[in-house]
Amino acid sequence: MLTTDEIPLSTTAERQVVTTESGAAPEKDWVIVTRGLKRDYDMGGEIVHALRGVDIAIRRNEYVAIMGPSGSGKSTLMNLIGCLDTPNAGEYWLAGELVSDKDEDELARVRNREIGFVFQTFKATEALERVQLGDRVQHRPNELSGGQRQRVAIARALVNQPAILLADEPTGNLDSTTSEEIMRVFEGLAEQGQTVIMVTHEADIAAHARRVILLRDGLVASDEKRSTFIKAAGIAPPDLTKKT
Ligand SMILES: Nc1ncnc2c1ncn2[C@@H]1O[C@H](COP(=O)(O)OP(=O)(O)OP(=O)(O)O)[C@@H](O)[C@H]1O
Ligand SMILES: [Mg+2]
Repeated sequence: MLTTDEIPLSTTAERQVVTTESGAAPEKDWVIVTRGLKRDYDMGGEIVHALRGVDIAIRRNEYVAIMGPSGSGKSTLMNLIGCLDTPNAGEYWLAGELVSDKDEDELARVRNREIGFVFQTFKATEALERVQLGDRVQHRPNELSGGQRQRVAIARALVNQPAILLADEPTGNLDSTTSEEIMRVFEGLAEQGQTVIMVTHEADIAAHARRVILLRDGLVASDEKRSTFIKAAGIAPPDLTKKT
């Protein structure tokens, strides 16, 4: 088995080429390509520019964390990547298909085929109900721990063998021991070649991914490999061998 560090990471130069070829279909290997992605919200006449032109390219098998302060656009971007929402401008290519101009029905089909969602546990029901998947949420006995529930959520997300596993704050309401446990599950999936994208505002959690994209004010502020991120953040690298 490859360790995650042996799976090749896309390079900055490769990403630059693929994100600037406006209108051209990227090779299928690029599971996610966004070009100039914008999303505005109309708050009763006042426009909030949640995303102001996001260029991101993620290749199959990559394990990416998206970080950024509150309000920087992380969830907005995840909703677009997850085909739960459509942009106001820009392109979004998912597994070689232009999805930014698809209607809701087409979007739902792509979403069901290509995306597995893992949410912060208490948000899961609400989010699934928004896309009329509420009946997929099984009511589990309350004695399941947060970690167990999150494992169930991950297993469920992988049932259809999605191209991408998307996780928005997957450890958001878990204690640190349980968070580490969930990070080991993600690491195992990444080692098996599952493309994983997770949003987190915790540097310690982001440090588990092989690549960290930082959003600031609706734009990509930096996009770097794990080691660079760990050094810049001044944190200790995660110890994945630790047993709980
Ligand atoms: N449905 C919405 N209607 C109006 N404004 C919204 C909506 N969703 C997000 N916004 C605004 O868009 C901006 C980006 O929000 P977003 O939720 O994407 O940030 P975030 O990085 O996920 O923040 P957090 O870390 O708090 O989850 C914020 O200014 C937010 O208030
Ligand atoms: Mg958010």
